[in-house]
Amino acid sequence: MNRLDLFPITTKVIQDRLTIAGVDIATLAEEYETPLYVYDRATLDAVTQDYKTALASFYPMPFSITYAGKSFLCKAIAQWSQTQGLLVDCTGEGEIAIAKAGGVPREQILVHGVNKSNNDLKAAAQYAGILVVDNHSELRRIANMPVIDLPTLWLRLLPGVTVSTHHAHTQTGHHASKFGMTADEIRTAAAFCKENNLPLNGIHFHQGSNFRDPEPLLPAIDLALDLAKEIGFSSEWHFCPGGGWGVAYHEDELPHPSIESYVRGIAESVLSGCQQRGLDLPYLHLEPGRSISARAGVAIYRVGAIKRRGDKVWVLIDGGMADNPRHAMYGARYSCLAVTAIGGERSEVVSIAGPYCESGDVIIEDLPMPHLNEGDLIAVPMSGAYHLSMASNYNGARKPTVLWLEEGRAKIIQHRETPGDLCARDEKL
Ligand SMILES: Cc1ncc(COP(=O)(O)O)c(C=O)c1O
Repeated sequence: MNRLDLFPITTKVIQDRLTIAGVDIATLAEEYETPLYVYDRATLDAVTQDYKTALASFYPMPFSITYAGKSFLCKAIAQWSQTQGLLVDCTGEGEIAIAKAGGVPREQILVHGVNKSNNDLKAAAQYAGILVVDNHSELRRIANMPVIDLPTLWLRLLPGVTVSTHHAHTQTGHHASKFGMTADEIRTAAAFCKENNLPLNGIHFHQGSNFRDPEPLLPAIDLALDLAKEIGFSSEWHFCPGGGWGVAYHEDELPHPSIESYVRGIAESVLSGCQQRGLDLPYLHLEPGRSISARAGVAIYRVGAIKRRGDKVWVLIDGGMADNPRHAMYGARYSCLAVTAIGGERSEVVSIAGPYCESGDVIIEDLPMPHLNEGDLIAVPMSGAYHLSMASNYNGARKPTVLWLEEGRAKIIQHRETPGDLCARDEKL
């Protein structure tokens, strides 16, 4: 793979400088300072369209796409999701509040969470159209809620099937996982819903995040369809085999896996599985996060000190694990380009690390790069998912400015935190 293929689809190199959506990245870095994140609208639109086209080609019934807000959510992304007709998956009351502030209507909000608090459930009851139930405790509390108009309920199945992701921490569907309910727990939960007249009409599972082989989805789909048959949903029922489709983060990986083949595999398996069981076709939902948002986002950093020690070259930048904890958490591999020397000869192998007080505060290890100097800018592609949504204020780090890039224009969608923001919640003794 070419390093540029990791960048948003509007990326162009003009006179050796990086541009995205027709905007010169070095100029943006001057104006807005670094670390800086940019999101390319055209890339978000294009991937979403790939999902829609594939679903329309391979699945005859209604379908919908739910954007997994956990990959990155802010008001502007919530607004954008509605231009695409997406549902928004919100984990708990915090993300529900962001979706709502971005104008997502009740029927487009779907709520997840492995141990929802009473406040999460209350917010879901008030503002969501769909609530995915993770466990019996939630179900009992939902049954006791004094609400007339509950969201429709889906049950989250733990299929007990492992998908191959890059790290054990991104697997969620295997036997030992904390997520969802076993087949027996699903049976009990469905019976409870019937006894208590709860509006159950769907089943869901999510096996993990960043996988490329859809094969393990098939036994999980079979199990979910068996349970759907047993439960006996009404003719309009909903089925969601989660999200998790992978992307390439580094030029050494195979190219970005095809969304079409993923969707086709799921659609065909649901169609044939329903036919074999004499089940009405469900309303099919997919729940991607990373495959929509990762490639649209690029992180821009400025190089500070450089430590050249024989074979080991440390390039220190002004961001790191506080805005992108994925290398520290999962050993995720990234690549980058020098923003104003794209074609420069890659004469040096460098490791790129942040300013924070952790040896694990590394973004990139052993990457061939042109000779870098203090003050240069680097752009790290595939930075749109699970960076800012997992960002922290470690060492007093302030969350960075985020820009929306569209047709030659840049607009701030998140302001850089100020030192005042860091103390905003504090009270003196
Ligand atoms: C329930 C659920 N749905 C969807 C997703 C989205 O996964 P991805 O961003 O890998 O597509 C996740 C991610 O953890 C999830 O937990």
